[in-house]
Amino acid sequence: MGDASIPSFKAADLVIQLSSAPKTKLDVFAFGTVFTDHMLIIEWSFSGGWEPPLIKPLENLSLHPACSALHYGIQLFEGLKAYRGDDNRLRLFRPMLNMNRMAKSARRACLPAFDQSELLECIRQLVEIDQDWVPHSDSVSLYIRPTFISAESSLGVKKPTRALLYVILCQAGSYFNNETQAVSLWANPKYTRAWKGGTGDCKMGGNYGGTLFAQHEAVEYGCQQVLWLHGEDHQITEAGTMNIFLHWINEDGEEELATPLLDGMVLPGVTRQSVLELTRKWAEFKVAERYLTMGQLCSALKQQRLKEVFGSGTACMICPIGQIVYQGENLHIPSQDKNSRLTSRIAQELTDIQYGRTPSDWTILV
Ligand SMILES: Cc1ncc(COP(=O)(O)O)c(C=O)c1O
Repeated sequence: MGDASIPSFKAADLVIQLSSAPKTKLDVFAFGTVFTDHMLIIEWSFSGGWEPPLIKPLENLSLHPACSALHYGIQLFEGLKAYRGDDNRLRLFRPMLNMNRMAKSARRACLPAFDQSELLECIRQLVEIDQDWVPHSDSVSLYIRPTFISAESSLGVKKPTRALLYVILCQAGSYFNNETQAVSLWANPKYTRAWKGGTGDCKMGGNYGGTLFAQHEAVEYGCQQVLWLHGEDHQITEAGTMNIFLHWINEDGEEELATPLLDGMVLPGVTRQSVLELTRKWAEFKVAERYLTMGQLCSALKQQRLKEVFGSGTACMICPIGQIVYQGENLHIPSQDKNSRLTSRIAQELTDIQYGRTPSDWTILV
């Protein structure tokens, strides 16, 4: 297994220390609040390379107060899920895409390379150990949070000579409070999430911490998420922490499922890629990665060409968008109306794959 050319830890060297006091499992599925018994942790230093990976009881980290992950945000993370199918087997959904994106973020953060398959095998073993935490439910799953931070204990802004890769697991219910309801978006062009040449296409913490202020404004104005715009022409990029899709009759009169292209400002979502591949395989309408602006969306809405808008992401999977507040106007998107067939069809097909009801090479058994 793995790519021998990359100096990396090896899953075969994994040391496992099991908890002697497993926690009582609670029926609390608020996102990211209840963590399982174990964590995976792997240390790296410039002088010694990668240490053997370790699975141990979940505990606090000990970091020097000068740690450059805390001062300069030299860190990154991933997010994927394990689903328990009707056959009682746990499945991971396209986890190598997350490993790949993590390696890309690591390169951008000047954190060391690792063998992606070796990390996946370590994560698989961690999930196997804590598998009893994954309930038998279509609406609950196990969220896997790989994290990679600089552990450099000096104040210079420089390439880390020490790093810590760790993985924690938590129960995950619905990310939004009311999953079946369409969400509302606050689109204010004065905020931008990412820019050309920045780190918006990597999963770095700074991309998220910087969004809180706008998110609070969205809530103040009665919306649930921010629709991230960019540039003079209010280019549509992402919705909250989701990629965004428009199902419409485009300017040329063609039925189209459109999503912003990956121009460095958009996170290349695993769910986004899956929606594109799935719908392209159907070959029922045009599927496009393209430039999209608020002007185009508003025209389509006015001319009744806009059918549905939805967000995609691991946390919510497929999330209908029912309203966009933009320039003082309350734009009603027909996503929640009876004709929003595409959103639910895509959600159903992806769920069937994730829970093993449709056999697919997109899942790997734990
Ligand atoms: C900014 C942003 N966009 C899109 C996504 C969706 O990516 P994925 O489908 O891989 O979860 C995420 C992930 O949570 C995200 O943080």
